[in-house]
Amino acid sequence: MRTTALFTFFVLLFELTSSENEAPLGKVVQPPKPNILKQGCPSDLLHSRALRSIQLACRSHPSTVISAFEGIQEGLAHCANRLRFQQWDCSEAGNIMHDPPLLRSGGCLFNGAQAARDPFQEVLFRYSSIPLGFRESSLIWALSSASAAWGVATACAQGWIDDCACNNHLGQNEYEFGGCTHGVQHGITASRKLLTKVGAVSSLLRKVEKHNLKAGRLAVKKTLISSCKCHGVSGSCQQKTCWKRTATLEHITDYLVEKYARAKLYTDDSVVKTTDLIYLEASPDVCNTKSVAGRVCAWRNETHTQGDCDRLCCGNGFSIRHEVVRVKCDCEFVWCCNLVCKDCIQHRWISTCNGTPPKSLIF
Ligand SMILES: *[C@@H]1O[C@H](CO)[C@@H](O)[C@H](O)[C@H]1NC(C)=O
Repeated sequence: MRTTALFTFFVLLFELTSSENEAPLGKVVQPPKPNILKQGCPSDLLHSRALRSIQLACRSHPSTVISAFEGIQEGLAHCANRLRFQQWDCSEAGNIMHDPPLLRSGGCLFNGAQAARDPFQEVLFRYSSIPLGFRESSLIWALSSASAAWGVATACAQGWIDDCACNNHLGQNEYEFGGCTHGVQHGITASRKLLTKVGAVSSLLRKVEKHNLKAGRLAVKKTLISSCKCHGVSGSCQQKTCWKRTATLEHITDYLVEKYARAKLYTDDSVVKTTDLIYLEASPDVCNTKSVAGRVCAWRNETHTQGDCDRLCCGNGFSIRHEVVRVKCDCEFVWCCNLVCKDCIQHRWISTCNGTPPKSLIF
């Protein structure tokens, strides 16, 4: 993903510049606006059937929609990485702007590319016409909403969004590279406007959706980082400028994954906090709904190990493959200005689940 590389680069740049305590404010070089934000909405978003707000915003504020979309993609990638060795690994969620089955009434869980090729898919859809709101859906709603806010706030602070308040503060106290208090609010407002479905909150599912989207926006607020910078004669803190910026998306994802682990089943008399994730229905057992054949269930090298094949492979057994990979190691800075590394050989053992067809596809 181009934007991932860009964001990473700017985060790095920010780390470097922020150690300069006396860097003059407002003298920060604005990174150029990436092409993807200049090109306007792609047609799938322009004609989004899921959200009319996206269609409209694509015409008036395309950079905002694209920043939000890219933020969501990146959030999902962090989530998949974070839940890599969990039974549900976030990977088949789909972008909320594309109206993925997981978030739809009558949708189904674990409906990935694998399932789409499956002849039983039809049956699965027919049997799940009741509104579903799984624990997994709650995370996707909240994470999408948080990631959209994060994407817009970040793009805003980088000066990539025309109508964003941070732009007007260039050279003034409020502005700081990678951080702009106004950008945060702009992102949160944009996320709410883009992802909230308009109309009455009639169904219970819609109510749960709305709650979880809000919990996502709150996650961005709860994880904000305050930064201050001193100005004055050689580091004396006579004057101080403070602002708030968003945490990294990894951090926000981790925060929401913890909320997901403690998500609450919502019933009419439930007492839930605004920051809680809520769901309506117990999730189906992966072992009964999806083939785990070929899934990577564990990984290890000489010193580290991760995963649990007995659980993830539903008792079907697994096989281990040995890989030898070449990596850069023992790197040293050589004046001026090279990083010189040795090539090292690393051994890895990858375990994958053995193949047997799923026991049943109906839940
Ligand atoms: C094993 O993997 C971990 C995590 O990626 C890494 O930090 C460590 O250096 C690796 N150990 C060896 C001996 O390759």
